[in-house]
Amino acid sequence: MQRLGVNVDHVATLRQARKTTYPDPVTAAALAELAGAGQITIHLREDRRHIQERDLKVLRETVQTLLNLEMAATQEMVKLAYEYKPDLVTLVPERREELTTEGGLDVTSQKDAIGKVVKNLKDGDIVVSLFIDPDLDQVKMAHRVSADRIELHTGRYCEAHSEKERQRELSRIVDAAKAATKLGMGCAAGHGLNYDNVRPIARIAEIDELNIGHAIVGRAVLVGFDRAVREMVELLRAP
Ligand code: PXP
Repeated sequence: MQRLGVNVDHVATLRQARKTTYPDPVTAAALAELAGAGQITIHLREDRRHIQERDLKVLRETVQTLLNLEMAATQEMVKLAYEYKPDLVTLVPERREELTTEGGLDVTSQKDAIGKVVKNLKDGDIVVSLFIDPDLDQVKMAHRVSADRIELHTGRYCEAHSEKERQRELSRIVDAAKAATKLGMGCAAGHGLNYDNVRPIARIAEIDELNIGHAIVGRAVLVGFDRAVREMVELLRAP
C-alpha cells in the first residue's frame, strides 16, 4: 500500500477563520496517524493563511511517522527547513492570489534557481521532492537538478470533464511515474484526490506516496477524523 500523507492545512484554515486556537492541526495529525496515515503533510505558505510556524514547530516534535513540509523555493523557507528539519521537503510553486496550488513547478524554466535550492536542502540532509505536472520534460529536469523524488500534480486528472479526458490524464501520470522510477527517483502524487477518484491512482505501482488534504478534512468535519482517514486507507488497500 502507498503511504498516505494526510495534509492537515485545512484544519488550520478553519482555525484561522476566527483566529482561535482550535481546531488544532496538531491534534488532527495525531488522530490521522492513529487511523493509519503514514505521513503528515503541511504547506507553510508565505502569507501564512493556514499553517503557522508554530504548527511546524510542534508537529516536528510530535509527528511519529514522517513530516512532509511543502514550501516555496525561497531562502526564507530554506532557513525554516534547516531549523525544523522535516523528513521531506516538497518544493511547490506559490502565488498569493491562488486558492490552492494551481500547477506544478516549472523546473525547465527555473532550472538554476530550483537546482540551487535542491542542493542547499540536500546539503542539510533533507530529502527533496519537486511537485510537478505529469510531463516527461519536467520529470527529466527534476532528475537533472538532483531531486530525490517528485510529486505528480493530479489536478487535471481530478478535474477532467469526460472519461476520455480522465483516461488521457491518467496515462500521463502513469508515464511520468514510470519515467521517474527509471531515473531512480521516488514518486508521489496528489492534489484534488478524493474518495471517488483515488483508486486508479492508488493502483499505479510506481507511486509510493499520496498526499490528500481537502477531501479528508472535508469528510472529517462530518464523520470525524478517525473515520475519514480510515476510509481513505481502506481505499488505498483495496486491490
Ligand atoms: N500535494 C501538494 C503538493 C499540494 O500542494 C496539495 C495542496 O496543498 C496537496 C497535495 C493536497 O491537495 P488536496 O488538498 O486537494 O488534497
